[in-house]
Amino acid sequence: MKIPFNKPFLIGKELQYIQEAVDSGKISGDGIFTKKCHRFFEENYGFRKVMLTTSCTDALEMAALLIDVQAGDEIIIPSYTFVSTANAFVLRGAKIIFCDSNTLNPNMDANQLEPLITSRTKAIVPVHYAGIACDMESIMQLATKYNLFVVEDAAQSIDSYYENKILGSIGHLSAFSFHETKNIISGEGGMLAINDEQFFCRAEIIREKGTNRSQYFRGEVDKYGWVDIGSSFLPSELTSAFLYAQLENLKIIQSKRLKIWNRYWDNLHEKAIQLGVLLPSIPKYASCNAHMFYLVCKDIEQRTGLIEHLKANNILAVFHYQSLHKSTFYSSKHDGRELPNCDRYSDCLLRLPLYYDLSLNEVDQISDIILNYLDKYERLS
Ligand SMILES: Cc1ncc(COP(=O)(O)O)c(C=O)c1O
Repeated sequence: MKIPFNKPFLIGKELQYIQEAVDSGKISGDGIFTKKCHRFFEENYGFRKVMLTTSCTDALEMAALLIDVQAGDEIIIPSYTFVSTANAFVLRGAKIIFCDSNTLNPNMDANQLEPLITSRTKAIVPVHYAGIACDMESIMQLATKYNLFVVEDAAQSIDSYYENKILGSIGHLSAFSFHETKNIISGEGGMLAINDEQFFCRAEIIREKGTNRSQYFRGEVDKYGWVDIGSSFLPSELTSAFLYAQLENLKIIQSKRLKIWNRYWDNLHEKAIQLGVLLPSIPKYASCNAHMFYLVCKDIEQRTGLIEHLKANNILAVFHYQSLHKSTFYSSKHDGRELPNCDRYSDCLLRLPLYYDLSLNEVDQISDIILNYLDKYERLS
């Protein structure tokens, strides 16, 4: 492909820091670079406590352990999301209750949440799709009213806000991703942000295989042992070194991605709307972190045709999630409610190339090809 969907990139001292980590004699977890990354997030975004993990999936699994999900507990999530949002809780025996998406964007529709809450509900897991905030005020109000945990799936949400609050700082716990398709990358990688103090101590233990090894390394106990359940959730210093070099350049990365996002918007929005194609809808309370630029086509035929047309022009655009309530694994466990907005995004949403090295000239080329196709589609239908 001349223009791929995504391209990993180096922006600063990634390779130098990896070399430094090797030279320091420690490349297992929780060394200098992991600590630098933790400090970066705590100082720049005011998260109370953060812990790097090997993926967002791992951070979600840690969250499920921390809120002590038991067999039969119900967890409310959007159906339009990545499997990890569900799997992390299903692994603990939870039943997943799916909430439909908004009409104007794929985030969970907070107005539909209350009837889904029962005496078994343990948590709500809002996913900030494309880095655009969910209606956190309504979600937190319900959580308080029914005494529920909120775990933000902030996989795509680095550097994005709900009003003046950074995403990931609002729920009790939050999970971020640094997978190579995200704004800030480390190949695979993730982070748990802990906003509720009651979880600080246990999170450290769960992340270190259920041992109090971190306390031992800090000299707080004279030997360490098995004190709880847990797993190996901490990344190696090689991952953290790469990540720290990216974090040092976060402002530059974000500014470039926003230019790309705005160029797509300027090129496409008037014509797309005339032709009945939706673009990202950002509510007043949300900011844009330029994680993703997508179109919502009129129907699946239009989307399939557009994907083919872009491919014929050596451009890779890709659809996203398949509705989890209709998945092979979970459809028989779903309560049968129709989730029409979720299905529409599954059939019609198309993600366009967006990566640090994409030039504005390439964005213009992609936009022209899309508009030509949409025009022709309209004339022929
Ligand atoms: C909403 C959402 N949650 C969780 C994940 C899992 O992230 P990771 O690949 O870091 O485990 C993804 C992956 O893209 C995602 O889109």
